[in-house]
Amino acid sequence: MAIILPPLPYADDALAPVISATTLQTHHGKHHKAYVDKTNAAVEDTDHAKSSLEQIIAAAEAKGDKGLFNNAAQSWNHAFYWNSLTPDALKPTGDLAKAIDAAFGSVSALDDELLAQGTAHFASGWVWLLARGEKLSVEQTHDAATFATGDAKPLLVIDLWEHAYYLDHKNVRPDYLKGVIEKHLNWAFAAENFGRDGTWTYPA
Ligand code: FE2
Repeated sequence: MAIILPPLPYADDALAPVISATTLQTHHGKHHKAYVDKTNAAVEDTDHAKSSLEQIIAAAEAKGDKGLFNNAAQSWNHAFYWNSLTPDALKPTGDLAKAIDAAFGSVSALDDELLAQGTAHFASGWVWLLARGEKLSVEQTHDAATFATGDAKPLLVIDLWEHAYYLDHKNVRPDYLKGVIEKHLNWAFAAENFGRDGTWTYPA
């Protein structure tokens, strides 16, 4: 059972102008696809040929296989990122809205924190909204590092790698972040993640 490249959950021009169709075509069709293809090539004819992506990530991390970890974790992070975005303007509601108020004071303060950490992050990585139990936090990871495994439950993620925004915003990462945070965060997906037991799993 090979790891699949899940289709984008919206049309490739659905997030324009914040994220253009050209960016999505390249980012999903080239970058994400390459991570998936390399993961499959690395596990072919091994004990992990039929493992889930989460099992592959955990095994690669445990044995210090950096190359496999990077490709497997980046496969997972990208699928989670596509689902973290939406063409629809949504707002947090219900239990998630209450948890945001408890942790940050307001949705607007959470937005500011995502923007600040996403802007300040040095080089390539990701900025996450996480839940540990009911407690929410914003945290960054570098390169391919992921919350696919472990105790913290990711609710949303934003890609901070230059390939996510360079074609549309050149080197001005804050413009990309503002557009994503103001218009395209998928709060329905975040609420599903907050409400589920355990962490979202990569589509098989
Ligand atoms: Fe990316």
